[in-house]
Amino acid sequence: MGQTKLIPLPEYARRTGIPLSTLRLYIREGRLRAMRLGRYWYIPVEDEGDGGGRGRVFTLFTHAGGAGKTSLARDLGFELASRGYRVLLVDADPQANLSAWLGVDLSEVEDRETLLAVVEGKGLPEPRRLEVGGVTLGLVPANMNLAMAEVLIPAKSLGMVLLRTALMESEALERYDFVLIDSPPSLGPIAGMAALAGEGLLVPVETSAKGVQALRAWWR
Ligand SMILES: Nc1ncnc2c1ncn2[C@@H]1O[C@H](COP(=O)(O)OP(=O)(O)OP(=O)(O)O)[C@@H](O)[C@H]1O
Ligand SMILES: [Mg+2]
Repeated sequence: MGQTKLIPLPEYARRTGIPLSTLRLYIREGRLRAMRLGRYWYIPVEDEGDGGGRGRVFTLFTHAGGAGKTSLARDLGFELASRGYRVLLVDADPQANLSAWLGVDLSEVEDRETLLAVVEGKGLPEPRRLEVGGVTLGLVPANMNLAMAEVLIPAKSLGMVLLRTALMESEALERYDFVLIDSPPSLGPIAGMAALAGEGLLVPVETSAKGVQALRAWWR
């Protein structure tokens, strides 16, 4: 069965060909079901439920520390989920800030729930389901033991594509519309594996000389 998604009003106007002004009139007259979130209107529509393979995978990536990777993963994930998208957050950082900020008690995260399972060839672990601020998020949490992956990945053949392979072989891309991977502040094996798992990188850049320098270091 399909899920209900919230479509921004201008997008709904584009899809239906109905002018925005007419849609606003319909909403005022109660002829069109709509929801207001902040300043914007959204139309709840049943997802076509055509299933599979549409999940988009993005990796929050920059070797600069404290640039905003984890904050952006958390906030973007929350915003997408609050608009009705099914979101999986993958904590690929042994610092486990993302897991902690989403309320996970790191002392009870087991290694088999983390990307260590992927590195050990066991496939993508079953994500936790978190209820955060009224929305549901999937999370593959991390703990400090994930740091072992820095030595395990180079020892594996095709180690750098293990996460990409695990995502493709799991049902994640059918079950989620967006997969956001939070990578650690390095250019090491875990960060590389996280980067190669995504179809694109999201690179937060601090508005400072240091931030721009970090961007230039790998973007030539
Ligand atoms: N847009 C923003 N504006 C101001 N401060 C921010 C913003 N985004 C994040 N911060 C703050 O910057 C600090 C670092 O953010 P965050 O931990 O998300 O970065 P990070 O790139 O994940 O760090 P690390 O490299 O350690 O993983 C945090 O204190 C966070 O609250
Ligand atoms: Mg971080």
